[in-house]
Order: sequence, then structure tokens, then C-alpha cells
Amino acid sequence: MLVAIDGPAGAGKSTVARAVAHALGFTYLDTGAMYRCAALASLRGAGTVDAARIAFAEDRVLLDGEDVTTAIRTPGVTERASEVAARPEVREALIARQRELIAGGDWVAEGRDIATVVAPDAEVKVFLTASPQERARRRAAELGADAGVVARELALRDERDSGHGRTTLHPAPGATPLDTTGLSIDEVVQAIVARVPR
Ligand code: DC
Repeated sequence: MLVAIDGPAGAGKSTVARAVAHALGFTYLDTGAMYRCAALASLRGAGTVDAARIAFAEDRVLLDGEDVTTAIRTPGVTERASEVAARPEVREALIARQRELIAGGDWVAEGRDIATVVAPDAEVKVFLTASPQERARRRAAELGADAGVVARELALRDERDSGHGRTTLHPAPGATPLDTTGLSIDEVVQAIVARVPR
């Protein structure tokens, strides 16, 4: 069983996907963390990352066995992740690894292209959105930064994440759009869990 959760940065995907996985007893896959690992490897001059070197253990992200959970959340890595994610060879390698991971067991996978590209046959597909103001507000609160500055950065990232002719950032056919503006995390989680056939 696969629950696919896609949407733009700041729509609340990570928090929601984690909580949905917890509620269902499924394993959580953060595909953004994989692009961030590729970015960290690139910043360290390691060239193109070997997808097999990326692993997850509980809630930690491992690159070559090193715990990089914190290291992949810096603004520099965020910036580079958006760039490496535009490279077809990076996407191809990471998508293959994601398909390998979700092939066995029950998963909640979160990203930009889970239901469109990685697993179009996912049993449940949700496309999370929120108003630009709400997304900026959440990100700013998370980072302790200025909402105006964050709003401009998000707009740039959206443009890059949906550019390069990539088919990311649009809802897959059959996906349920869910606008999280004004909803509590719990309300969003319940709405998704209710769609999972059991
Ligand atoms: O969700 P995030 O901020 O951790 O994602 C990091 C970067 O990776 C972001 O620029 C979008 C990109 N990404 C992607 O292209 N495809 C995915 N499935 C997940 C993330």
C-alpha cells in the first residue's frame, strides 16, 4: 500500500506525511531528503551521488553511513538541492532508488512527483497546497526568519522546482487536492487517513 503526498515547499507535506505514516503504522519516505543528500554530496565536491549510498534509519538520514539529518537542512543545501533536482541523471537515479524502497511494505512517500512519476499506481494520492502567504508564514516560523524574505525565496524555488520542462508540481490524475490553509495538522492528517482503504 502506498500513500503519495505531493505539493510545493511549505504546504506542510513533511509534518503531515510523517503523522499520516505514524497513524497508519506505515513507513515514511522523504524523497526531498534524497535530493538534499545529492546536493550535500555535490557541495562537498563528490560529483553525482550514488543513490545506493542514501539510506534512512528511524528518523535519521544517512549518506555513506554518516548521519546528515541536520546537515541537509542548511540554506546552502536547500539552494543546491533545487539545482541538482533539475538534472535528469540525478532524478533518474533517485527515482529508481525510491521505487526500490517502496516496492515492499506499506509506505507514505512525500515529494513533488510521487503520484505523477515515481508511483502513478499509488493507492492514495494527495496534492497538498496552501496559500503563498500561509506557506511563507509557516516557513518563516520554522526558520525564525522574515516572512517577506521567505515569500520571495519560496516564489523563486517554486519557479525552479517546476521549471526545466519537468512534470513536477502539478496534481497527478486522480489525486485529491487538499488546501491546508487554515486547517490544523490534525485535520489534514485525518482527511488523508480517511482516504486509505482498510
Ligand atoms: O521537500 P524538500 O524541500 O526537502 O525538497 C528539496 C528539493 O528537492 C526541492 O528543491 C524540490 C526537490 N524535490 C524534487 O524535485 N522531487 C521530489 N520528489 C522531492 C524534492
